[in-house]
Amino acid sequence: MKILVLGGAGYIGSHTVYELIDAGEEVVIADNLETGHIEAVHPKAKFYKGDIRDRAFVDSVFDNEKIDAVIHFAANSLVGESMVNPLKYYDNNLCGTKVLLESMVAHNIDKIVFSSTAATYGEPERIPIMEGDRTEPTNTYGETKLSMEKMFKWTGKAHGLRYVSLRYFNACGAHVSGQIGEAHKPETHLIPLILQVPLKQREHISIFGDDYDTKDGTCIRDYIHVTDLAQAHILAVKYLMAGNESNIFNLGNGVGFTVKEVIETARKVTGDPIKAEIEPRRAGDPAQLIASSEKARTILGWKPEHADLEEIIATAWKWHSTHPNGYAK
Ligand code: UFG
Repeated sequence: MKILVLGGAGYIGSHTVYELIDAGEEVVIADNLETGHIEAVHPKAKFYKGDIRDRAFVDSVFDNEKIDAVIHFAANSLVGESMVNPLKYYDNNLCGTKVLLESMVAHNIDKIVFSSTAATYGEPERIPIMEGDRTEPTNTYGETKLSMEKMFKWTGKAHGLRYVSLRYFNACGAHVSGQIGEAHKPETHLIPLILQVPLKQREHISIFGDDYDTKDGTCIRDYIHVTDLAQAHILAVKYLMAGNESNIFNLGNGVGFTVKEVIETARKVTGDPIKAEIEPRRAGDPAQLIASSEKARTILGWKPEHADLEEIIATAWKWHSTHPNGYAK
């Protein structure tokens, strides 16, 4: 198969490319390198630098390459930024996807796997969260991802395109080789921020609120290893190639950890005391987000292989301790 990975130089995209190439697939990457890193591009993948909002660019990739399916990661994904600059998210996430779909329809490419998020649910109505539960995003990022899902749905009905939307919970960890990993600027995610303390880049980790209705008062999240997410994309492509209908799947381990538990595990992995300080709640954080991924397990045959939090943090530590400045030289 020849797979086009849009956003293949980003965090989850680059890990998916590594898994695809390990599985013997042919990979073409398109990325504008706005948040992606050229160093994260697998040497065996063919790389096109460009933006999905540029119709001529997208057309040229489809004209040059005989693509069997698309995996779409090309989007902005910072919740905080999306609230300050919502139109940036509408422009890149929605306008970009519109141009992409126009080009796919024109080139008769009818299969797409899409990077969605638990943020499509907003405040959950129950735990664990099921795919059919209420979707009421509480931030622009989640809203644009939900709108992208709908764009696939209605384009699919009109033009016969089929899609799989994968709603990730808290993506984390790094490739077991330590060659690629998480490198966001600014970094907002819990695990890389915790690891900045033993790296001496940060004096302490802030715990955003300890008065939630949870076992130790801190927020609970479902942390899922990036390589397990990557595997789910491959299974989703195969699912579409086998002729199955469009579908939506949650991806998480189904187990929640509190912020304090994550910090404690990082202390164990790094051997560093990692100072933590309680600070006020961060606006918009639900107390608890845990996925039911039964549907992905049953229908896609997905089985996370790095579910242990200590192992997840160990892979992240391997990457961050050898690349303290990310991909920067
Ligand atoms: N947290 C801290 N201190 C920090 C950073 C985070 O206590 O310095 C806490 C947050 O309050 C939250 C937990 O750690 O309770 C995890 O926070 P992250 O920012 O790592 O992740 P989120 O759960 O906020 O966000 C993730 C994805 C988003 C996605 C969202 C779905 O990163 O892309 O899940 O709700 F939108």
